[in-house]
Amino acid sequence: MKVQQLLDALWRDYVASTPQASAIHDLLSARGEIITNDHVALRTYGAPGIRIADLARPFEAVGWQAKDDYRFDDKHLVARYWQHPEPGLPKVFISELVLAEMSPVVQQIVAGLVAQLPAGFGERADLPWSGRPWRVTHAQYAQLLAESEYAAWVAAFGFRVNHFTVDVNALSTFPDLTALDAFLVEHGFTLNEAGGMIKGTPQDCLEQSSTRADSIDVAFDDRTVRIPSCYYEFAKRYPLPSGELFHGFVPTSADKIFESTDAKR
Ligand code: NI
Repeated sequence: MKVQQLLDALWRDYVASTPQASAIHDLLSARGEIITNDHVALRTYGAPGIRIADLARPFEAVGWQAKDDYRFDDKHLVARYWQHPEPGLPKVFISELVLAEMSPVVQQIVAGLVAQLPAGFGERADLPWSGRPWRVTHAQYAQLLAESEYAAWVAAFGFRVNHFTVDVNALSTFPDLTALDAFLVEHGFTLNEAGGMIKGTPQDCLEQSSTRADSIDVAFDDRTVRIPSCYYEFAKRYPLPSGELFHGFVPTSADKIFESTDAKR
């Protein structure tokens, strides 16, 4: 698999469940923008065979290199990001839920999902967009949701991109993230206001905003329910004191960005 094939496969799968992303992409293209992505983000459980390292394998196979690690105590997540030596390619941000920090109920439900994985599932070359490999009831989803929105999201959607992120530095018709956000609101999109519309500051070297996730019909074992799926993110980066552009992430900002798929509004 080549880099572009991999990114195309991720994008196709993502827009299928995130209609707003293609609408925003088209809107920006119509203004003459050429869109490049800052990063793509994936989610998983910290369970054997489907850990961060497993999801990363198809990216590492085509040249992405592991960078920094992060921890999100409140949400019980750990994460790492990868960067590609070729300029203009998105970073890959993968997080996983620390199951040991979850209640026995959540641990039991997740163990039941993971037990359904076919042998060798974690070695699939298409693991990052392989979808939901387990059966789950709406009641189980609701039990997970009561404790961890993230746990519930992974149960419902499985393995797919949670969000793409537009590289705002590469846009030519918006002076800053505030202008882009205003344009999106003016065109009817709802942005995630948890922690303010823009997370981070120029001093943090990273400003981020995101839409509220689209809601789509998800077929659970027992019934179909409309729940938040994926969102679109926007990132503006600033240089470090060294003059080099900052490529990492800001945990306090990412913590609020995670809430873009929050069903409890
Ligand atoms: Ni992100």
